[in-house]
Amino acid sequence: MIVLRKEEFLDSEFLPSEIFHRENEINQIKSSIKPIFQKRKGDNLFIHGLPGVGKTTTLKHVLSQIDGIKTVYLNCWLYKTPHSFLGEIARQVGIPVPRKGRGTDEIINNILKKGNMIIVFDEVDKAERIDDIYPLIEKTKSIFIFITNNREWILRLEPRVSSRLFLTNIEFKSYSFEQMEDIIKWRIKMAFKPSALSPELITEVSRRAFLKRDVRNGLFLLKKIARRAENDGLDRVEINIFEKIQGDFKLKPVLTENEEIIVGVIKSNQGKTTGELYDIYSKKGSLTQRAFRMYIKKLSEKSVLDVEETGKGFRGRSRRIFLNKKYGV
Ligand SMILES: Nc1ncnc2c1ncn2[C@@H]1O[C@H](COP(=O)(O)OP(=O)(O)OP(=O)(O)O)[C@@H](O)[C@H]1O
Ligand SMILES: [Mg+2]
Repeated sequence: MIVLRKEEFLDSEFLPSEIFHRENEINQIKSSIKPIFQKRKGDNLFIHGLPGVGKTTTLKHVLSQIDGIKTVYLNCWLYKTPHSFLGEIARQVGIPVPRKGRGTDEIINNILKKGNMIIVFDEVDKAERIDDIYPLIEKTKSIFIFITNNREWILRLEPRVSSRLFLTNIEFKSYSFEQMEDIIKWRIKMAFKPSALSPELITEVSRRAFLKRDVRNGLFLLKKIARRAENDGLDRVEINIFEKIQGDFKLKPVLTENEEIIVGVIKSNQGKTTGELYDIYSKKGSLTQRAFRMYIKKLSEKSVLDVEETGKGFRGRSRRIFLNKKYGV
């Protein structure tokens, strides 16, 4: 690698060891949950803000510092139905849950036996019938934290649930340019070799991320810059790289809604087999496995995906799927 030091620092799922400019939010969250450590009831939280403003990262950071109380983190994209999110809560606190054959009442009773805990429902707007957690709210001093970028979500709650939850609002506001620059600079420092990017280029990436109000946009640009620099054998990248990578954007094909969802799944699960990808996809989308395979075939014909034959797999021939490098990863 010529310009890169450690590319994983550019992944948006990467959990940074330093969180910038969220001291107030972190303190607010910590003081809301503090009473639970003295077996008293803390405040439940409703955290909202635009995409890519650090909600998930900040919460995970706070959870990682908690000791002595059980914590559960759920992304409701993956656990949508009451059976699935309750089952996952149970699993995370050490209760074995068979895939089928357990009613939600029984799962809730088992969770209640585990005492007070902190439960985070991230992307909670994707969850169906969240009101089914009512017995957990009623019978424990557990703390519930709901995260979403849809501030209207709260209106969907049943009145008996919302009045019991008594949610404290925390809004994650978008970053100022200077704040965005601090976040982007840290990622650059960790991911790239020293002086690999010119100061002007760093400012431009920060500016673009600031204008989109989304850190992920900056990380995405940095990945593109890194790929291009590595391909072209550059050891120092200047601002004119933008002229080169602009072309890549044009290569990006327009995708249908189904294709967009499939590409989204593959983006965060590179190198998995078609079967594994379908299992993940089926939690989000409704295509049959057969149709899903057709889509994969078409996407690879459009050069959005790269398909790698891996020879004999578990159930016969298996293929590993990657997003094509030219496509915006
Ligand atoms: N204050 C910060 N300090 C360091 N990194 C940050 C900060 N805020 C955001 N990031 C980085 O930006 C990216 C997006 O953050 P995150 O996933 O937490 O956003 P989000 O608000 O949860 O977005 P969404 O609503 O789409 O889920 C992550 O890679 C994260 O590490
Ligand atoms: Mg998030």
